[in-house]
Amino acid sequence: MSAEPYVPEHADLGELQKAAAGCEGCHLYEDATQTVFGEGGADARVVLVGEQPGDQEDKQGHPFVGPAGRVLDRALDEAGIERDDAYVTNAVKHFKFSRQGKRRIHQKPGITELRACLPWLRAELTTLNPEVIVALGATAGQALLGPEFRVTKQRGVPLPCPPLDRLGTREEQGEGRIVATIHPSAVLRAEDRDAAYDGLLADLRVAAALLA
Ligand code: URA
Ligand code: SF4
Repeated sequence: MSAEPYVPEHADLGELQKAAAGCEGCHLYEDATQTVFGEGGADARVVLVGEQPGDQEDKQGHPFVGPAGRVLDRALDEAGIERDDAYVTNAVKHFKFSRQGKRRIHQKPGITELRACLPWLRAELTTLNPEVIVALGATAGQALLGPEFRVTKQRGVPLPCPPLDRLGTREEQGEGRIVATIHPSAVLRAEDRDAAYDGLLADLRVAAALLA
């Protein structure tokens, strides 16, 4: 299982998005409504990586347009990261869910789905070559830095990025340009939402400072 055969070489963002719409690199395309590719300007200096589209994103076809997206938008604004400077995407491009009656319940993508979808994230990062990559939550962190990644231990400090052809491994390279933080939906689930939000904001400020 891999998206690799679907990813065009030397493609721009528009071409990647078009190709991703037809991806059958893992089984997740079967039940989801559509591929939700990353969005943002080709000049984006920061790429924010979430986990996978949620229910709203799956229906609307755009990343971070549901409740978690509203938390993220507010935090980006408060951290001084301009929307024009940001490209928002996910580690996995199709919504994974189970059904309970009419409801669709979010399911965490597994390591095989993460690995299968990684060629899309690699292509996005190769094309954009951002100064800073923000991993929103453990899944994004593991996609970028490997299964050993722990968000509680590694959040809020610049971490070295593996070479892009070795994404998802512990191989480190160059200056720290990855900053990890909690997922915005973890803010919504937290017992103390204000404290969780403040933590997210503090981490995004670390990312913003790298852009200065
Ligand atoms: N959660 C994510 O990780 N990504 C989205 O696009 C929406 C919710
Ligand atoms: Fe392709 Fe990723 Fe969707 Fe799987 S989740 S079908 S690899 S785009």
